[in-house]
Amino acid sequence: MRRVLTASPLLLLLTGCASVQSTFNTHGPASERIADLSWFMTIVFLVVTFIMWGLIAWGFAKRRGTLAEHAPINEGGGQAWIAIGGLAIPLLVLTVIFVLGLRLLAAFPIHGVKGGMEGMTMPAGAQELKPEILIVGHQWWWEVHYLSDTPSEGFTTANEIHIPAHRLINIELQSGDVMHSFWVPSLHGKVDLIPGLPNFIRIEASDSGIYKGQCAEYCGAQHAHMLLLVVAQEPDEYRAWLQQQRQPAAEPMSQNAMAGQGVFLNGPCSLCHQIRGTVAGGNVGPDLTHIGGRQYIAGNSFPNNDAYLESWVTHAQSLKPEAQMPDLAQFSGEQLRDLVAYLRQLR
Ligand code: CUA
Repeated sequence: MRRVLTASPLLLLLTGCASVQSTFNTHGPASERIADLSWFMTIVFLVVTFIMWGLIAWGFAKRRGTLAEHAPINEGGGQAWIAIGGLAIPLLVLTVIFVLGLRLLAAFPIHGVKGGMEGMTMPAGAQELKPEILIVGHQWWWEVHYLSDTPSEGFTTANEIHIPAHRLINIELQSGDVMHSFWVPSLHGKVDLIPGLPNFIRIEASDSGIYKGQCAEYCGAQHAHMLLLVVAQEPDEYRAWLQQQRQPAAEPMSQNAMAGQGVFLNGPCSLCHQIRGTVAGGNVGPDLTHIGGRQYIAGNSFPNNDAYLESWVTHAQSLKPEAQMPDLAQFSGEQLRDLVAYLRQLR
């Protein structure tokens, strides 16, 4: 198990085809504006740092005589340095950054119209503000609801958020337990998920691609294993994905997968997880209807392959201690392989 643990960060690096997770790697209008401020701040801080080091070096170079010859410390003088360098300039720099930050915040309102407003009279202009996606933060994964006025077209998935590129998408953010924060640096800034207080974020990806992000608010033991994946697709590709996700789970075809379905439905899995089209209707953990099509498991912490799925079922508490997923040690090797075969074909 230790080998699995030490190998995983390297594996993630090797398998990561997503773009670099950085505020400066912008792929949307919101992140571009934020990057402008980030560059400004970086340059200002670099200038301040160079000036400070310059002054320290100048002080060293100017130093004369022995300590004994120096004037007593209460002699006075040098107050202008403290007043200008220590108060006036920092106040000016911090005020400018504060005002620029406030202006940027005002450009991205986080209020909106809740998704569950069907049938109610909407204020003017509210239709465009209606969220298309509702994300609920959990310790330590993301529940993702695709909303629709037509109930049969709505569905639930987890952790991997598909959006159409080139268009603004309204997302409502809620929390199921503690505070989390939604942050995909290539697309936008951070918006918190606060229990009892829905927030909204509007993201637009100017290019199709895979953008990594993560929970940016400390939320417990596995905060660092609460990663995000936003897959921005060309509009027709996105429509096809939506269409496919609305379908109930595929019926297992192979002998192994059929046996695995039995293991899933008759075992503890179905108490916590939902697989649409089967009797499994648990809502404690992620919806697994199309788990086979996702790139990662466990809050995007590990690659979605046979080995990690088997490890996750049997040793979740070693991979992600304190997660709600228990160690399920009761399966035989054959049952485990069948179970994983079933999950993998749920595409
Ligand atoms: Cu969720 Cu940190």
